[in-house]
Amino acid sequence: MEVDRYERIWLIGSAVFILSALGAIIASVVFHTAELPEPAGRIEPELVTQTAPFDRPGLHQRDDGSWELVYVAQAWAWDPVQVTIPSELRGEEIKIISTTRDVIHGMKITDTNVNVMVIPGQISEVDVVFDDAGTHTLVCHEYCGIQHHVMGAEIVVE
Ligand code: CUA
Repeated sequence: MEVDRYERIWLIGSAVFILSALGAIIASVVFHTAELPEPAGRIEPELVTQTAPFDRPGLHQRDDGSWELVYVAQAWAWDPVQVTIPSELRGEEIKIISTTRDVIHGMKITDTNVNVMVIPGQISEVDVVFDDAGTHTLVCHEYCGIQHHVMGAEIVVE
C-alpha cells in the first residue's frame, strides 16, 4: 500500500504533536510536582451543622495561632454570607475550609487564587492571602439548581 506524501506529513505531524503534549504532562509532574486536588477530609453531609468546624461557620483563630475561614454551602446560599477580614490579617495566610449540605457547588473568590469544588461528603481546603483592602465576591461556579445565579457572598478586607 502506498502512503501519499501529504498523508505521511500529516501522520508524522500528528504523532509529534501527541508526543510533545504527553512530554509536557510528564515534565510538569516530574519537574513542577503537579498534583491532582484531593479532598482534605470526609464528612457526613447530613451531620454538617453538628460537625466541627462546620458547626461554627466564619473566621476563627485556631489554637496554633493560624486563621481559618469556614464555609457551609447549601442551595442556594453560603454561610456566612458576609465576612470581614480585619486589616491585621492582610498578608496573613488564611485557610478556607468548606463543605456542602446538599449538592455540588463551586467556590470562586474574585481576585484570588481560590477556585475549588465543594462536593457532598468531602471537605475542601485552600489557602488564601488577602494583601489589599477591598471587597471580594464569592460566587458559586457549579450549576446547582434554579437559583444558582444568586448564590453569592461577600468578603470585605479592611
Ligand atoms: Cu451553588 Cu451553583
